[in-house]
Amino acid sequence: PDEITVGELASRLKQTASNVIKKLMGLGVMASVSEVVDYDTAALVAEEFGAKVEHEVHVTIEERLFEDVADDPGVLEERPPVVVVMGHVDHGKTSILDAIRKTRVTAGEAGGITQAIGAYQVEAGGKAITFLDTPGHEAFTSMRARGADLTDIAVLVVAADDGIMPQTIESINHAKAAGTTIIVAINKMDKPQANPEQVKEQLTKYELVPEEWGGDTICVPVSALTGQGIPDLLENINLLAEVKELRANPNRRAKGAVVEARLDKGQGPVATILVQNGTLKKGDCIIAGTAVGRVRVMRNDKGEPIETAGPSTPVEITGLTEVPAAGDLFEAVADERLARELADQRAAKQKEEQWGSYQKVTLDNLFSQI
Ligand code: GTP
Ligand code: MG
Repeated sequence: PDEITVGELASRLKQTASNVIKKLMGLGVMASVSEVVDYDTAALVAEEFGAKVEHEVHVTIEERLFEDVADDPGVLEERPPVVVVMGHVDHGKTSILDAIRKTRVTAGEAGGITQAIGAYQVEAGGKAITFLDTPGHEAFTSMRARGADLTDIAVLVVAADDGIMPQTIESINHAKAAGTTIIVAINKMDKPQANPEQVKEQLTKYELVPEEWGGDTICVPVSALTGQGIPDLLENINLLAEVKELRANPNRRAKGAVVEARLDKGQGPVATILVQNGTLKKGDCIIAGTAVGRVRVMRNDKGEPIETAGPSTPVEITGLTEVPAAGDLFEAVADERLARELADQRAAKQKEEQWGSYQKVTLDNLFSQI
């Protein structure tokens, strides 16, 4: 839209190409009939012929649909950190998530820890922390591939009796690539063979120098089995969150990402989503990938129905037309009709891409058969 060929310009001006080329030469622009000139040049030529070029401003559906204004720093409020747990196989990621989850069992809900969704919040020192249940590497790969940078802090679990292993290194690389701050949980401290000093020494090789050695990496010895060190880990996550000054604007339309989603027989598409900015309200229209819909039921991580969800809150919602993919970005929008149009457009594009790769595959098959 910002340039036009000389031939096209001539035909729009109802002039011969050579007339237009002459005018261009008069302006000091040498261009053949098939070459392009920019908008400003075209406008000057048009003027010479007593015409006017109307600049086509192309507004995408996205631009019309989404509220793309930056938040004024003055309106930002503190938000809980979003944390993912990662590390080598069997080093205790699941056990640590379980141990953390247990810390939220209050007198009122003794015995029953209800966790309905793929993310949960715990409180430490009066402040909330959001944990994603998604395996760390998935949270980083599939979600980041879609542009969702969900996590603020990565808890790197290293078994004290095993030390740094291949997937530990992979986790470090993922977290670093995402710009996520790493906090190290040296796990299995209850084991007699536990050797936390060796773990720390190994960490320094990956530019994670423990604080007590003059670096800035927090290392917390824990045991998921006994619960030792877990409150300390949470406290340190909160300290780190404070340093990072995590902020969001609760007073705008919600946006965030899909953590996981499934099709429920009775409820239809059910998605666990994380609000990253703004506040999601029941009844809001949202678009997530190619899925659209009004939030019908919204539940918190305890399965309780809620009306609103602010920044860093994980919720489960129903009401979408289809099951979105983990990592899809979602946004609440004012215009449902336009949102459906965008979803259709995205679906069509996806089909086109799939068709393209299908053709490629068949072509490859053809060659491999020869
Ligand atoms: P994957 O999901 O398979 O990668 O493993 P994971 O990292 O989630 O480890 P998981 O929590 O399943 O723990 C692996 C094994 O280590 C289990 O047998 C746990 O009981 C054990 N384990 C985890 N934490 C501790 C701990 O603090 N102390 C001891 N002694 N054992 C632990
Ligand atoms: Mg596990």
